[in-house]
Formats: sequence, structure tokens, C-alpha cells
Amino acid sequence: MWIRALRLTDFRNYERLDLELEEGLNFLTGPNGSGKTSVLEAVSYLAVARSLRGANDAEVVRWGSSSFGVGGDIVADGTVRSSTLRFTRGGRKEVTLDGEKQALLSDLVGVLRVAWFCPEDTWLTKGGPSERRKLLDMTLCQLDPAYLHALSNYRRALRQRNEALLSWTPDDKSEALVDVWSERLLQYGSRVTAGRMRLLPKLALAVARFHKSISGSDALSLRYKSTVVGGVGSDAGNGDAPPGEDEIRSWFAEALQRVATDERRRGFTLVGPHRDDLEVRLGKRALRTFGSQGQHRTAAIALKLGEAAVLDSDGRGVVVLLDDIMSELDDQRAEALLDLVGGLGQALMTSTRGAPSIEAGHKSRNFVVEAGEVKRQ
Ligand SMILES: Nc1ncnc2c1ncn2[C@@H]1O[C@H](COP(=O)(O)OP(=O)(O)OP(=O)(O)O)[C@@H](O)[C@H]1O
Ligand SMILES: [Mg+2]
Repeated sequence: MWIRALRLTDFRNYERLDLELEEGLNFLTGPNGSGKTSVLEAVSYLAVARSLRGANDAEVVRWGSSSFGVGGDIVADGTVRSSTLRFTRGGRKEVTLDGEKQALLSDLVGVLRVAWFCPEDTWLTKGGPSERRKLLDMTLCQLDPAYLHALSNYRRALRQRNEALLSWTPDDKSEALVDVWSERLLQYGSRVTAGRMRLLPKLALAVARFHKSISGSDALSLRYKSTVVGGVGSDAGNGDAPPGEDEIRSWFAEALQRVATDERRRGFTLVGPHRDDLEVRLGKRALRTFGSQGQHRTAAIALKLGEAAVLDSDGRGVVVLLDDIMSELDDQRAEALLDLVGGLGQALMTSTRGAPSIEAGHKSRNFVVEAGEVKRQ
């Protein structure tokens, strides 16, 4: 799939924008603060109904306006689908597909799939586990609406259960309340964990392949470190068949039993997919503890490309959003990256410098961004 037209109203510094994109590589160049990242951010709204920059919807509304709108024509499976998302201050987000209002935001998800990459992503392998969990979750949500549903229900159950634990006192009423939420936590949590574990072998394979072609050597491997499966810190996804939902559920229940006293003392949920991690290893060691700057960067790119490849694994295509990446890489790596990205599908990339020279064989289009206007070059 690819996005043929993008339309914005009162989105960041764009009052209006009508953009026709190329099926292959699209380069957006322009000075700092001109509106390059905002275009990518708008595309993310059409894919996952939220800002991949992590911004609140209200921050995205153009200053002085009361709402923003994003619309796009998405070419997929030989047909064109048009989708829109509108956010009004103090109101809800509304989405349409082919002109029809949808009941749920999640109805939009999956029509357009994106993988997003920006320089801060080197934190993927350096920083804490939450960014790595997000990588797994964003991939799975775009592939499977049932996962998205399970994840948002898990989050709700977790919030409620933490509240119940925080106000817990040693009586039956308190215990019954925690129990209610434990039940939902187990139900959705085992589904989330099972989904991640099923994804892992596929993702690990793709990531290792990309890592090899970018770095030339070095074996990169991934391990899912679960807080519930077989006790703390066991591995999965490296060879063995991933466990099923029922199996995980009973392990999860055991783990909750184990930490029951601790949880009631500390007032929050100690085990479950919200505490899991994805360990990235280079050779035999965890990259997080010894990786050099360059090793982190290469691993992060491989992870993101791996994500894109997994999103495209059914051949429906994926849109790769590369924000300010090329300037970070030496010429050889930049060229290798362009080749890989060109092979995955459509890409939108931004840079403050000029567009790179593209070898014949890649379809490409150059745009110049200046103060909320985009001109084709
Ligand atoms: N809600 C808003 N309304 C109007 N303008 C905004 C809003 N939010 C951000 N801006 C401005 O929009 C501009 C575009 O920001 P954007 O992050 O897209 O720029 P950029 O081209 O990616 O810059 P850089 O090269 O520095 O990354 C900035 O000047 C920013 O200050
Ligand atoms: Mg930017």
C-alpha cells in the first residue's frame, strides 16, 4: 500500500496542504522548523490515529484554530481508499473511511501501515524497556485489530488494578476488588504476551538480516524477556515454538500469586507484559550494556527496518517514515539504507540538507518545505 495524496487543514504550521506523493521515495528538504516532521506526523495519524511524535492531539491543532484535519488517498490491493481524521479541541477524534463515519478510531488502523524512524530511536537499544515494548506493540496493533483491542483493555485493567492495590486494606472487600481486575489483567495480558511472543521469531529473523546487510557482519539477536513466562527473565522466540495464550495465562496467574504480598504492600502491579522487555544482543552480549554509539545506531535501524519488513510480510506494503536519518549516516550506510527502504515500498524522508542523489531504478520525488508550504521540485 502507499499514500497517493495527503491533505491537511490547520495541522501544526499548515493552514492547508494538498500533497501528491510518489509511490517510491519522497524527499522533503527544508530548514529547521519549516514543517517537515509535521508531514510525517500527519501520515502517522492516518495509520494509527495518533501522533508518532508522542504529542497530544491538542498540541497539533494549528495555533489559534479549534480543530485539525488529516485526509489521505491510500492505494492498496489495487483500489483507492480515502480516509480522514478530525480532532476538535475539547471533543473527540472522528474518522471516516471512504466517506463513511466509523464508530471506532481503531476502524482506521490497518488501512495504512507505517514504520517510523527518527534519530532519537538510538534510544531503542540504549534506553529503558518501554520504547522496545512500544516497537512490538505498534507493529502488532497495525497487523491485528484484536491485538489493539487486547492491549487497550489490558491498559485499562492495569490502571484499575493499580488503583485497587493502592487503596488496598486487609479485608474481603478490598480483596474482591483486586480479584475482579486480576481476572481481566490475566485475560488480556496473556493475549498481549502471546501476540508479542508469536511476533518475535519473525521480527528477529528480519532484524538479523538487515543488520547483516548494513553492518556487514555481527550477529544481532532478540530475546523476549517475560516477567511471567517460566518465572522472571526467561527467553522465548529463539528456536522453540512460542507458548499459547492458555499456557501463558496459567503462568501469569502463578506469577501474580508469587508477588501477591509484595503488590499489596507496594500498591501496584509487579508482573505482566507492561514490565517485559525485548533484549537486543550483539554476539553473546546484551547491546544495552556495552554498545558503542555506532553499534546502537546500526542496531536501531535494523530493528526499524525489521519492523517494516514484518509489517509488509503479507505483501500489502508499508510506508516507511524516516525523519532526519540520512544526515546521521556515512555515505555508504545511507546508500545501503535507501536501497533497503526502496525495496520495502513507499518512503517519506526528511532532511535539512538537499536530497541525496538517487540511482536510476528508484522512483523518487523531491519536495521543498518552507514555512508551512510544500513545493514540488
Ligand atoms: N500547533 C502548532 N501550530 C502552529 N505551528 C506549530 C504548532 N506546533 C508546532 N508548530 C511549528 O511548526 C513548525 C514545524 O515543525 P516541524 O517539527 O514539522 O519542523 P521541521 O521542518 O521538522 O524542523 P526540524 O528540521 O527542526 O526538525 C515549527 O516552526 C513549529 O514551531
Ligand atoms: Mg523535524
